[in-house]
Amino acid sequence: MTEFSERVESVSISGIREVFEAAGDDAINLGLGQPDFSAPAHAHEAAVEAIRDGRADGYTGNKGMRPLREAIAAKHERDQGIDVSPDDIIATAGGSEALHIALEAHVDAGDEVILPDPGFVSYDALTKLAGGEPVPVPLRDDLTLDPAAVEDAITDDTAAFVVNSPGNPTGAVSPPEDIREFARIADEHDVLCVSDEVYEYTVFDGEFRSPAEFAETDNVVVVNSASKLYSMTGWRLGWVHASSRRIERMLRVHQYIQACASAPAQFAAEAALTGPQDQVSEMTESFRRRRDIVVSGLEDIGLDVPTPGGAFYCMPEVPDGFVEECLERGVIVVPGDAFGEHGDGYARLSYATDEESLREALDVMAEAYDAVA
Ligand SMILES: Cc1ncc(COP(=O)(O)O)c(C=O)c1O
Repeated sequence: MTEFSERVESVSISGIREVFEAAGDDAINLGLGQPDFSAPAHAHEAAVEAIRDGRADGYTGNKGMRPLREAIAAKHERDQGIDVSPDDIIATAGGSEALHIALEAHVDAGDEVILPDPGFVSYDALTKLAGGEPVPVPLRDDLTLDPAAVEDAITDDTAAFVVNSPGNPTGAVSPPEDIREFARIADEHDVLCVSDEVYEYTVFDGEFRSPAEFAETDNVVVVNSASKLYSMTGWRLGWVHASSRRIERMLRVHQYIQACASAPAQFAAEAALTGPQDQVSEMTESFRRRRDIVVSGLEDIGLDVPTPGGAFYCMPEVPDGFVEECLERGVIVVPGDAFGEHGDGYARLSYATDEESLREALDVMAEAYDAVA
């Protein structure tokens, strides 16, 4: 009988789903990793018009439509002052596919990939699916990734390390000096830095910087996506930018697994990137207010929580049994060990939900805490 590949057997379905299934239908869900806003209206319109006019029916070029890639290049110039050629961009099926092709193109069997732990669930799984060995690096007390810890973990087998600021599941924003260090490490050790920048626009404290601004070699691959920048998770439109030679290798993977990103989504993302940007600041303001509600509420309960500088997550340290007590009382939070072994003893809370539900959830979490503390 045909057995399953060792690679696929080395990964399992994300534990986050299981948590959702354990909770009742009317639970308050602080487990979701997506903004609770609509996509910008001009993005909707651009896609609908393209569909009506019959412009979105066919394949696009493998890298994506030229106007979309020009819009992405203009975004990187506008936001980071980076000169990216539209030729050095591939539009992908979300940041997820961008991460996948970045690792597939650079990781050989047995190669090591250094990952933040706790970190976004896909890094570990995609490394294993590429045949690589994840090397988890614990975070600092403020939940940022320490460049010195990354540098210490580098061996002759290291193919890449992943940086994710603002981070999921932590909400932590790395200071610019750390981002500059990641670029230096990629340059000096000649290893690839995969910079996952999907929460770029959701920063409250500190500032977003990209290792691509500082690197002197082409050892940085940048992953980004319309999902969290514009509340467009369902459109599945992300991208990767890197040097021409790296893009050419990633395109070999993308061409065969995807052909091209969805055409209607490409029209929508182009409009989101080139149209008015007011929704971005409105979303960030709203997340900032919710962050403040949640962090001060958790502190009142007695939980220790590093104040997240961005994204829409926070990660308090929680006593044993807290997550289960929350679930039983109808509030979904995700156990920290779903994001790596060093996430044990923490929970991830997403505050991408309305303020009233957040206040209700905090009351429930206070009861859950009293039950186990
Ligand atoms: C850190 C991080 N990177 C990448 C992704 C992938 O997002 P998408 O595929 O929707 O662009 C996510 C989604 O939750 C994420 O949290």
